[in-house]
Amino acid sequence: MSANNSFSYEQLFARNAAEPAPLGMPRRGRYDFAVAYPDPETLPLDELVEGLRQALAEEGRDLAIYHHRQGYPPLREYVANKLARDRDIHVSPDDIILGDGSSQPIHMIVETLVDPGDVLLTEDFVYSGTLNTMRRFRADIRGVPCDEQGMLPDALEAAIRQARAEGKRVKFIYTVPTFQNPQGWTMPLERRQAMVELAQRYDVPILEDDCYVDLRYEGSDVPSLYALDGTGRVMYVASFSKIIAPGMRLGYMTAPRELLQRALAAKSGGAVNTFAAFAVHRFATGQLHSHIEVINDVQRRKRDAMLAALEEHFGDGVTWSRPQGGLYIWVRLPEQADLVSIRDRVLETEDVGYVPGTAFAADGVSGRNYMRLCFGYNTPEEIQEGIARLAAACRREGMLAD
Ligand SMILES: Cc1ncc(COP(=O)(O)O)c(C=O)c1O
Repeated sequence: MSANNSFSYEQLFARNAAEPAPLGMPRRGRYDFAVAYPDPETLPLDELVEGLRQALAEEGRDLAIYHHRQGYPPLREYVANKLARDRDIHVSPDDIILGDGSSQPIHMIVETLVDPGDVLLTEDFVYSGTLNTMRRFRADIRGVPCDEQGMLPDALEAAIRQARAEGKRVKFIYTVPTFQNPQGWTMPLERRQAMVELAQRYDVPILEDDCYVDLRYEGSDVPSLYALDGTGRVMYVASFSKIIAPGMRLGYMTAPRELLQRALAAKSGGAVNTFAAFAVHRFATGQLHSHIEVINDVQRRKRDAMLAALEEHFGDGVTWSRPQGGLYIWVRLPEQADLVSIRDRVLETEDVGYVPGTAFAADGVSGRNYMRLCFGYNTPEEIQEGIARLAAACRREGMLAD
């Protein structure tokens, strides 16, 4: 036996092992427009503690047991009621799986459906976490061009036909139809109907990621793809991260049972954290509705502050989205701008964080002249200051027309 501590795992990694991930916390800016944090001041901390206290008094002894892998039943019942009320999705609590955020259900679905080389269609720029999961399973990810209403139906159809012409089957379409991350648009009804119609005609299921749907600051709700379909071709995921806190790590999925059972089998780690589920269940049952109204008032003001600051500090040649909800503004600089190369310097010198467009590119390389700005974390005053600094840095770096 050797006590040699220079042992290497290099030869042992599985062929399909994930690429290495950086350890440690990345540096955050004081003006942190990079990550999707909600407003820290409005987190319902006292209410969560009270909910937890109540649940522990009533059911605390159940922490001694391993709950079923689908997760704490009363919270699944709450989710089923919420889906029926808010999204016209009518399923029983047994058709719900709770997950560690919605990231885990997304992972389970991808793991269940994707073989290396399978084609997945998604928006040309979309949530990087899901892209990373798809890459992890070696999917052939193809971005479908979008306008400010979502994927262009003709382009979507062309992409399906192209895959078929190559002898490949599209495994599913992934979309964030409401307050899309990062582009900010919401698919109107007709666009949703067109997507569902294509899914039905070509027999391609859809993974609908509705993680921002409750964060609406103006305008009216648009029906879910799930409700529009009604044929079992839509799998649905959503989350408590954006309406309570990402730190709770609670999300959920529903789908036809055939898929649900396979996804459940792929779920690692047993049930969700029952301690967190206790708190969220008691809080959500009484107060989530009014809490959402409170946070939406706050976030609306922050969005407006960021839009006004962009107007004031970024000149001609720069355009941005005006989302009716969600947490992001998607900014496009002139074609030659390279927001990847200056990102670290802007963080260092201005203390401003943003994410360059390439992080969201289905092809992994497009979008160097785009950035996603999250307005959820900083105060309106900080947003004003941070955007001024960002614009000054972009100007100094020659990214803007003078
Ligand atoms: C579109 C979208 N889906 C899913 C997630 C995953 O969030 P969570 O796992 O916290 O629910 C995010 C997080 O930012 C997101 O933007």
